[in-house]
Amino acid sequence: VSVSHGIRRKMTINVGVLTAGGDTPGLNAALRGLGKSALYVYDLQLIGFYDGFRGLLHDRYIVLDESALSGILTIGGTILGTSRDKPAKMLVGGKIQDMRDAMVETYKKHHLDVLVCMGGGGTQKNAYSLAEKGLNILTLPKTIDNDIPNTDVTLGYDTALGIATEAVDRLHSTAHSHHRIIIVETMGHNAGWLALGAGVAGGADVILIPEIPYEVDKIANAILERSQSGKHFSIVAVSEGAMSKGNRQQEQQLLEDKKSAKDKKEKEQARQALENFYAAQSARTMRLSQELERLTGLESRVTILGYVQRGGTPSAKDRLLASELGGEAAALIVKGISGIMVAVNGEGTKAVELKSVVNKRKTVPLDHVWVQTARRVGTCLGD
Ligand code: F6P
Repeated sequence: VSVSHGIRRKMTINVGVLTAGGDTPGLNAALRGLGKSALYVYDLQLIGFYDGFRGLLHDRYIVLDESALSGILTIGGTILGTSRDKPAKMLVGGKIQDMRDAMVETYKKHHLDVLVCMGGGGTQKNAYSLAEKGLNILTLPKTIDNDIPNTDVTLGYDTALGIATEAVDRLHSTAHSHHRIIIVETMGHNAGWLALGAGVAGGADVILIPEIPYEVDKIANAILERSQSGKHFSIVAVSEGAMSKGNRQQEQQLLEDKKSAKDKKEKEQARQALENFYAAQSARTMRLSQELERLTGLESRVTILGYVQRGGTPSAKDRLLASELGGEAAALIVKGISGIMVAVNGEGTKAVELKSVVNKRKTVPLDHVWVQTARRVGTCLGD
């Protein structure tokens, strides 16, 4: 990859770090991996900015020394705090403003040589926007959604997958006892990795993901077939971004309308129509439940897993990954490398150009082995 080797060579290298976007289990382990490697092996000075890019703007920071980094390996969340602020479009003083120059000032004030940003797709993009302002940036891929391209997996996905799988497991006994349909909604934004992974691992009878628009009739038929074969309960794992075929077509049309809007008035109308569409969509899992009750005559209940998937202690796998990614970031910094994301590659890591992951989302390929596996064991995917 072509990466910049812009970090100044001098006795002490000053490193800033921040965590941004939705938190994930394993962030503290990554901070510890970076921090301890920085202190004990590479002799780097490390400061952490609070609450994502907002802390960088307001110069709110903590020196990440031995005591700050101790005892955090197994703790969920992030000791630095996080936010969804975007440097180039930040709400400051009641107005959306480009605050990147002010962030560059904080970077310079601390004589930073590099800023490490740990985050999901949005953070990769935001970090890149600061790289465009001349900062040396290095990122780590973290999100429970597992939707960052050019990395095998993202930090936090394994923990969330474990939590969602346990939920699917546990829902089986109550669905069985009550002869009910139970719909379990996972997070994952517009990627189906969590619902698919937990659905396959937990043996859901139906799995609905955004990549495969569904037809309610097909789901109802699959459930009725189970009933007829003596299985009077069904578990449906649905991703929060999954949509019916009809809704997906409607969304595509509204997106087209927005793109082709000619003037300001048309643009505003198209934007509003899209906003209304998404607002109406927020209750679609509840609607799916009602429709399935109507079509099957079975009782149906909904469990929305929500933030429980992001909370608490990281899995062993995420702790290992976080420690590795953090340590590798420190090693790359010492080599003077920036403008990259430290990606997961097989058993190890690799540096990928930051630009290559910006504005892209890794969704589930339709021929992915988990999709094939689900079909092979008779799981209905709604199509
Ligand atoms: O990106 C992680 C994630 O948990 C998504 O799965 C979910 O759609 C979103 O964040 C929720 O965002 P927020 O924390 O802003 O409510």
